[in-house]
Amino acid sequence: MGDAAADDVVWWRDGVLYQIYPRSYADTNGDGVGDLRGITSRLDYLQWLGITGIWINPITASPNDDWGYDVSDYCAVHPELGTLDDLDDLVAEARERGISVMLDLVPNHSSDRHAWFVDARHDRASEHRNYYVWADPAPDGGPPNNWVNTFDPGASAWTLDTASGQYYLNQFLPTQPDLNWWDDRVRDEFDRIYRFWYDRGVAGFRIDVCHAVLKDAELRDNPPTGPDDHWYVQMYGQRFVYNTNRPEVHDILRRWRAIADDYDPPRVLLGETYVLDPNAYAAFYGNDDELHLAFNMMLLHAPFDATELRAAVETAEALLPADAWPTWTGGNHDNHRWATRWCNDDPARVRLCMLMLMGLRGTPFLYYGDEIGMPDTPVEGDQILDPVGRMFGPRLGRDNERTPMHWNGAPGAGFTDPGVTPWQPFGAIATHNVADQTGDPASMLTFTRDLIALRRASTALRRGPYATHAASDDTIWVWERGPDVLVALNFGAAPRSIAAVNGTIAICTDRRRDGESIADTLHLGAFEGVVVERR
Ligand code: NOJ
Ligand code: CA
Repeated sequence: MGDAAADDVVWWRDGVLYQIYPRSYADTNGDGVGDLRGITSRLDYLQWLGITGIWINPITASPNDDWGYDVSDYCAVHPELGTLDDLDDLVAEARERGISVMLDLVPNHSSDRHAWFVDARHDRASEHRNYYVWADPAPDGGPPNNWVNTFDPGASAWTLDTASGQYYLNQFLPTQPDLNWWDDRVRDEFDRIYRFWYDRGVAGFRIDVCHAVLKDAELRDNPPTGPDDHWYVQMYGQRFVYNTNRPEVHDILRRWRAIADDYDPPRVLLGETYVLDPNAYAAFYGNDDELHLAFNMMLLHAPFDATELRAAVETAEALLPADAWPTWTGGNHDNHRWATRWCNDDPARVRLCMLMLMGLRGTPFLYYGDEIGMPDTPVEGDQILDPVGRMFGPRLGRDNERTPMHWNGAPGAGFTDPGVTPWQPFGAIATHNVADQTGDPASMLTFTRDLIALRRASTALRRGPYATHAASDDTIWVWERGPDVLVALNFGAAPRSIAAVNGTIAICTDRRRDGESIADTLHLGAFEGVVVERR
């Protein structure tokens, strides 16, 4: 399938990346909470799996109202997770294993306990007042405009500060005030924050809410949704025109890119681009001068359906600028695990979706546990810790996908010491764990690892152009990665055949078919997928 030219391999374009929720990966001091040393202790595993870069959810100081996304100090490590020395060790050890470390930056808002906000709310004339978005009440005393809260569509995005009589903007929790990116001092602060971490060897950032850091300077009302809007937008009853995706946000992204490019090797920007308009999505890549990678939420929110998944991919393929490089993921810490959400924990479907992610043009992003087909963990009652789960219950809450990694099936799950109560419940450690799946040629873990190795070895799979194959319909999705490689997935329960395919199966979701020769007709069983090396 063509040898990879080693010198041309770029870790974030050619590799497979992996998201780690640090509280849930590995606990080294027996307090039931994962930590940075825990991640370091698992780097050999990640190297063995073939991962070339990790993104770690926020590790910075935080009161944890939103589990790290409410930052009280952008340049300090949360003591529960470790120290700056631990981070330096992690970066150095990862580098030795060919793994780059990306952190998570939260520039849209801080915690209300950040020193900037403490000063800002203390009086209207304070030095940091304008670091945040303040506005006078509407004439009726209500919020300044109609913007709704991202966590609670029924609530305003504004909170009244009774002491000063003004409202401040909080698109998330009231304890997460939005920063004011029109103030140049805020821009300068974040330039320093980027450099602080880049200077320590951090390879780049996943940028939280990067589509919405800047708001309309006039704070205009959002217009109502219409019947053609995406269901996710309809949930809010308004189009995010003035609080999201403002044209001027691209100036900020270009500024951040210039800082990243100033380093050797250049640092990498990965955006949480939570937009459901494909044109807006494509724009975040700029002219190869904004984000390197932008998460595609349209694929993540598509159902398990060949037509809809294909449409998400092909729309992006059609709109992305020539230099832009896609990235594909089925899940993260904000959405139920795709093994459960897309696949209902059916092993055949889980393999099919893994093959989809690995077979597309673009960088696959795994969420920790995807490689073993880890399902959601039920989290109920008092165990619910996510603020969204507390407001609306586990279906909308995000605890289910944030539970400890399943390293083995013994007490402690290899995550923490036996007998320690983990910060979140373990879930199905007996049925899905790394130890049991390691070395088993039929396991999901082996499948994932072999797929990663196949990608690494195949220029076509890493770099080849995506082209729809004519056999695609509403149940099967077939595409070419250049002339030599065909990926064929059957999203249906009925067997299917594809004519005029000749070659050898490089890998199949049913491993017994690996190496099978195909002469003219490719048969696919229920929920079966293959990569075919053509001849
Ligand atoms: C997106 C993050 O992924 C999510 O976990 C968080 O709650 C919000 N941004 C607010 O920071
Ligand atoms: Ca710990």
